[in-house]
Amino acid sequence: MRRAGQVVAEVLDVLRHTVRAGLATREIDVVADREIRKRGGTPVFKGYQGYPSSVCVSINDEVVHGIPGNRMIREGDLVSIDLGATVDGFVGDAAFSMFVGNAPDAVADELLSVTEEALYQAIKVAQPGARLGDVSAAVQQHVEAHGFSVVRDFVGHGIGRQMHEEPQVPNYGVPGRGLLIKPGLAIAIEPMVNRGDFRVDLGEDGWTVTTRDHSLSCHFEHTVFIGEDGPEILTAIS
Ligand code: MF3
Ligand code: CO
Repeated sequence: MRRAGQVVAEVLDVLRHTVRAGLATREIDVVADREIRKRGGTPVFKGYQGYPSSVCVSINDEVVHGIPGNRMIREGDLVSIDLGATVDGFVGDAAFSMFVGNAPDAVADELLSVTEEALYQAIKVAQPGARLGDVSAAVQQHVEAHGFSVVRDFVGHGIGRQMHEEPQVPNYGVPGRGLLIKPGLAIAIEPMVNRGDFRVDLGEDGWTVTTRDHSLSCHFEHTVFIGEDGPEILTAIS
């Protein structure tokens, strides 16, 4: 899982430097697919329940699962990139969001930093002896304290030989509730945070999720292994 996580981290880093105004989202998919395979990995999204691409690119009011295509990235767009790879039978899954150039306003900028902070706060509490509700609540409390909302309809997940394993890891919850975390657990924690209302809609392509109120949405994700000594981020650049 460390090797899979490393491949995902490296490819996301390449993609961060690939994203620019004037690029079609399909070109991000081409780079992602090539960079995963170059490192001995297989894109896990491609073919997953019929998903057609190696990466998800979700822009502005798109929350997750945007399918790469002809759409052009523009200056000021909030671009979220989600990537998964299998290496030697194990999966890594991670995502980040970024503005292309400057954020449109200060609150948009805050949405990005709060979502990323929420992920790291959740990772910090993902300790042996804690419960999954502590992890979920860490995300929700940080997000709502800043006046944003957490998406309910999509959640983080256990991860290992499969991308999606038990348990579900919601971005909302009650401290002290849920599964007891024991060393050996691997989870993908992935806050999806809306500037406005938490409600979302599914697009006509059957994949792209958008905010119902068309407010901006932001997504960060890491694959995290919880060992005896605490959480280890497998999809961090090392
Ligand atoms: N990180 C996402 C998830 O955990 C990516 C899945 S996209 C899919 O669900 F296309 F593979 F479904
Ligand atoms: Co995931």
